[in-house]
Amino acid sequence: MRRKIIIDTDPGQDDAVAILLALASPDELEVLGITCVAGNVPLELTARNARMVCELAGRTDIKVFAGCDRPLQRKLVTAEHVHGKSGLDGIALPAPVMPLQEQHAVDFLIDTLRAEDSGSVTLVPIGPLTNIATALQRAPDIAGRIGQIVIMGGAYFEVGNITPAAEFNIFVDPEAAEIVFGAGVDLVVMPLDVTHKALTTRPRVEAFRAIPGKIGPAVASWTDFFERYDKEKYGTEGAPLHDPCTIAWLLRPELFIGRFINVEIETGGAFTTGMTVADWWRVTGRKPNATFIGDIDAEGFFALLTERLARL
Ligand code: BDR
Ligand code: CA
Repeated sequence: MRRKIIIDTDPGQDDAVAILLALASPDELEVLGITCVAGNVPLELTARNARMVCELAGRTDIKVFAGCDRPLQRKLVTAEHVHGKSGLDGIALPAPVMPLQEQHAVDFLIDTLRAEDSGSVTLVPIGPLTNIATALQRAPDIAGRIGQIVIMGGAYFEVGNITPAAEFNIFVDPEAAEIVFGAGVDLVVMPLDVTHKALTTRPRVEAFRAIPGKIGPAVASWTDFFERYDKEKYGTEGAPLHDPCTIAWLLRPELFIGRFINVEIETGGAFTTGMTVADWWRVTGRKPNATFIGDIDAEGFFALLTERLARL
């Protein structure tokens, strides 16, 4: 069955690859819309970048919405040090021609979840959770109508990437994450524990670059860009390709292994704000609320990604 999805995003090169993977998979996924949030770069740029990615894929029909321009309670933290000034550094793409939708992303989320059959829409947040939390706060009735939320965010064994204790998407808006993780919705979480195993090694990047047409070389230029920073930081052969893990899970869940456990969000820690306190070893007796993924068949993931990108 074809799944209806809304991608909530802050592009970001890895967000862009996730969007392309979804658009390359129309037999399995129907992209109802792309909702943008402030994160890697400010909202104006994420909303621009999302449209540039749709245009790169020739999909000017996709509806792109701008959402929240700052976290619920905190000052926005961005990540230009990873993604570059534009958020999508690596290749110069033309300025977008397709319009941004006039409706606010949060209103689109609420209206769509109310209009579509209950349980039929999957949300895929791959940035800070501000838009999703705002929608849940404003319209609590939608919680029971969401089929599933597949999140890129958090970490347990890998702990943090923006602070020693926190992953970027959760750190930027921990209060929003707390709302989403407490909403009683079916959650699947792709933490750093898994995305740090999805590394852009040389042969994998060269396989992207060899795809005929413009998509493969664009993806290779993006990964080349953020690799510079990540390879030095982690001392690894390549950089983690975080966000596409969510879409890959929707397409091929058998590539992943995880556990249904309790995950709480630290909002008040002196040093640990934004930490995902994941009860991996089931030592608390707290109620499980998320399928927390820990492992990936990285070869299978990159084979899927390369094969799908070649279809665009
Ligand atoms: C997450 O943070 C962003 O920089 C990436 O796009 C990804 O969503 C990884 O921590
Ligand atoms: Ca992202």
